[in-house]
Amino acid sequence: MIRAVLRMGDPRLLRVAEPVSLVPDAELDVLIADMLDTMRALDGAGLAAPQIGVGLRVVVFEVQANPRYPLAEPVPLTVLVNPEITPLGDEVAEDWEGCLSVPGLRGLVPRYEHIRYRGLAPDGSAVERTVSGFHARVVQHECDHLDGILYPRRIEDLAWFGYEAEIAGLRELL
Ligand code: NI
Repeated sequence: MIRAVLRMGDPRLLRVAEPVSLVPDAELDVLIADMLDTMRALDGAGLAAPQIGVGLRVVVFEVQANPRYPLAEPVPLTVLVNPEITPLGDEVAEDWEGCLSVPGLRGLVPRYEHIRYRGLAPDGSAVERTVSGFHARVVQHECDHLDGILYPRRIEDLAWFGYEAEIAGLRELL
């Protein structure tokens, strides 16, 4: 079922989400199905449970020829329960991000270029990957939602924050 996505300003987006205590679980499976339906209906690269008003540590992401991210490398469909991120090295890269909770806007956000992440799949099996670039960016963005952080708080210079339809000129300045 496609769910309503909370938008920036809704205080529920600022809460720290709770760990999921039981995996696998039928209710969890319904939540995940709703998150995937919602992400795909809106052409999102990812979605975190707090964005549909559920304060649990669950994220989903997938990038396949996404019209909102035409230049992005593909990222496999992934569901992560109770994810944890470990930066690998201190290399940081800046790139443009958007968010279904901040519709119409894009901002330039620094993220770790290389990370390891781990979590549980919906069947309770362990997921562990070492990734870089856009894949690493998507995971960091989604996991930030679990700690109540929306990407505009990560923008270091708000000159690089604007409406998607207007920022072609900003991109050329970089
Ligand atoms: Ni987001």
